[in-house]
Amino acid sequence: ILIGFPPNMSKPLPFDAEQTGLKDRIVIKFSHVVAENTPKGLAAERFAKLVRERLSDRVEVQVYPNGILYSDKHELDALSRGDIQMVAPSFSNLTNAFPSWGVLDLPFAFPSQQAVDEALQGEIGEQLLAELTDANMAGISFWHNGFKQMTSAQRPLIHPSDFTGQTFRILPSKVVEEQFHALGAQTAMMPFTEVYRSVVNGDVEGQENTISNIYSKRIYQVQRYMTISNHGYLGYTVIVNQSFWEGLPADIRSELEQILAETAQWNRGLAQQLNHEQLDEIKKSGIVNIHQLSAEERDEWIKALAQVYIQMEQEIGAPLLAQIKELGQ
Ligand code: LMR
Repeated sequence: ILIGFPPNMSKPLPFDAEQTGLKDRIVIKFSHVVAENTPKGLAAERFAKLVRERLSDRVEVQVYPNGILYSDKHELDALSRGDIQMVAPSFSNLTNAFPSWGVLDLPFAFPSQQAVDEALQGEIGEQLLAELTDANMAGISFWHNGFKQMTSAQRPLIHPSDFTGQTFRILPSKVVEEQFHALGAQTAMMPFTEVYRSVVNGDVEGQENTISNIYSKRIYQVQRYMTISNHGYLGYTVIVNQSFWEGLPADIRSELEQILAETAQWNRGLAQQLNHEQLDEIKKSGIVNIHQLSAEERDEWIKALAQVYIQMEQEIGAPLLAQIKELGQ
């Protein structure tokens, strides 16, 4: 085996960035935790592709999926330090730093995708985004994933009492924690990258997530029961480091904003399609027993979870809570 260069062979010339025009190329590192064949994974790739097509000599987007660079626990800190320039955490992942974002985690807050859109594009979204700027972050757009479903290795989750005594993996969200407590369950908070292993090891009996996350991380293969409950919504905020963003040349920034707006639009349809197709794949596999929550069962859950709204009023703030309640009616 030859190590190094043979003595009579000249070393390759160092990469001449100046000559290739890449010296001043702006690099945007985009770190996320999900698989590539998901609404977020594909939207990140789409964004990178459009940037390559329209700004190739000036901006390069590098996408790091599956938490290979940072887990969701560390990506926001990495963004504020400027180690990465763009992230798209799920709303729940913002609630530690910004408790009012918990409003989007409230169980059965959204009767439909349309209600989600109304909240994000209206006053609620505006208020929430304004909070990020205090922490040198700018929320540029919202990306969709979908409604969350419940899974368990232990028993079918049909009535609230079925949750008793089981431990569920949760995101770092007080609202989601209270949601499971109201159902008589215990919780274990952990990053997304640890969910599969924890389920396999039996550290948790169950979890909640979107179909696309349950499918792409093969969680359905290690759970026995899944309830299509649509009890909560999982979406993303595309966030940039504000100083970095404002330091960009104005023409580049506005082109990037335009591309991100197009990507958000594209992601909306894709998210619904993927969740739909991947549910079919899960059904076809025959591995997991699927229960569709009936209207009566849904009412039982809503009744059991009503206390979460009261418990979280202070954390979220009464006016925001009132707005979300209005939307759900
Ligand atoms: C999770 O941790 O379950 C989600 O936030 C993962 C994601 O980013 O969709």
